Amino acid sequence: MTKQQTWSDRFETSLNPIIAEFNASIGFDIELIEYDLTGSMAHAKMLGLTGIITPEEAETLIRGLSQIRQEYRDGNFNPGIEQEDVHFAVERRLTEIVGDVGKKLHTGRSRNDQVGTDIRLYLRDQIRQIQDLLREWQKALLNHAEKHIETLIPGYTHLQRAQPISLAHHLMAYCQMAQRDWERLEQIYDRTNVSPLGCGALAGTTFPIDRHFSAQELDFASIYENSLDGVSDRDFAIEFLCASSLIMVHLSRISEELILWASQEFSFITLKDNCSTGSSIMPQKKNPDIPELVRGKTGRVFGHLQALLTIMKGLPLAYNKDLQEDKEGIFDTVKTVKGSLTAMTILMSEGLEFRTQRLAEAVDEDFSNATDVADYLASKGVPFREAYNLVGKVVKTSLAANKLLKDLTLEEWKQLHPAFESDIYEAIKPKQVVSARNSYGGTGFAQIKDAIANLKEKMVV
Ligand code: ARG
Repeated sequence: MTKQQTWSDRFETSLNPIIAEFNASIGFDIELIEYDLTGSMAHAKMLGLTGIITPEEAETLIRGLSQIRQEYRDGNFNPGIEQEDVHFAVERRLTEIVGDVGKKLHTGRSRNDQVGTDIRLYLRDQIRQIQDLLREWQKALLNHAEKHIETLIPGYTHLQRAQPISLAHHLMAYCQMAQRDWERLEQIYDRTNVSPLGCGALAGTTFPIDRHFSAQELDFASIYENSLDGVSDRDFAIEFLCASSLIMVHLSRISEELILWASQEFSFITLKDNCSTGSSIMPQKKNPDIPELVRGKTGRVFGHLQALLTIMKGLPLAYNKDLQEDKEGIFDTVKTVKGSLTAMTILMSEGLEFRTQRLAEAVDEDFSNATDVADYLASKGVPFREAYNLVGKVVKTSLAANKLLKDLTLEEWKQLHPAFESDIYEAIKPKQVVSARNSYGGTGFAQIKDAIANLKEKMVV
């Protein structure tokens, strides 16, 4: 281990080695190195342009920084704990490469605005990547939806059979959630895309810097108006963790359904061998590990959101070292969300099959067409509540007689109410029941086709 450096001549001894390790973030913030280098290059260019350093010095700094990038990419830059964090590691290596001029890089900035810049550049990139993965997830759902517009599946409320619906309608519900997730990230991108660079430690700087220039170099849409706010704001990161939590909520809900559907009790899907695992002891088993893991991993993302909210809540302005604690949660969230979206997309596109025969039987074996009998009578002028009570009675007597509604004779129907005609049989067939729910946003086939077309249009953006 290289000797721990002292801070400045104000310090006489170096840090206790255990404290140095406790204090260091290099073990995880090395993840930010590419962004740190990019941010430093923009800063160096600005210093040269404003005459704070000479153009030649700026060029030298930028050349040194690109060399560090190359070294890192080649696996030859591996700073140890004695460097404390990625920012110091880069600055020290730069000075080794270019000599004393490297010590000029930090003019007019602080690690506080530097780390704020890095984390924003990092999140901007990650948000775009997660948006792309959401699109892939949506496409996998859409593919099934387009194939299964007329495949029926029991629809539930309270996990009790309620009304049959189209399988496409069910899958499209998740596709809509993913669309909102995508749009939410788009908005968060805009609030992340603000430059804190040049806010200094907290109060700005005495140097004639040009914050607009460095922001433009880094493609930031705007800059922070208040330097204290700029160095201590993590709202955008909290929003990102919140959006990530919602993505996980949505993935976790469909995971739960897939797990149920793969059970023998439901048997609505078959998991293919490429996406399920076996048991070490029970040879007959095929386990839905992917959705179970996604459901489980949701917890850690919620945890990271809760952690950052808690980190922020009592912080006085401006920077406090507590803020170093934002990173691991953010990195783990990014990894978890990307991993979960990717795994679920693979599962949906090549790891399962819908058991259409079993689904057809399922919608035919219950009383989920009871509302349609009530609707039938109501459309013939019987007040709905009266019709509802009457059908309740029919369900009760049919259950006792071990019959389904479709098994009743026309005579039995007529005894219940004279308004029943022979078209009642057609009206309660599952396919008719589903296709008749043609109100906007409903499960009627025509509605689903429109909904698919509308969503596809939104997905082009
Ligand atoms: N490693 C630190 C962090 O991640 C960088 C900023 C340090 N600033 C300071 N004033 N000590 O937050």
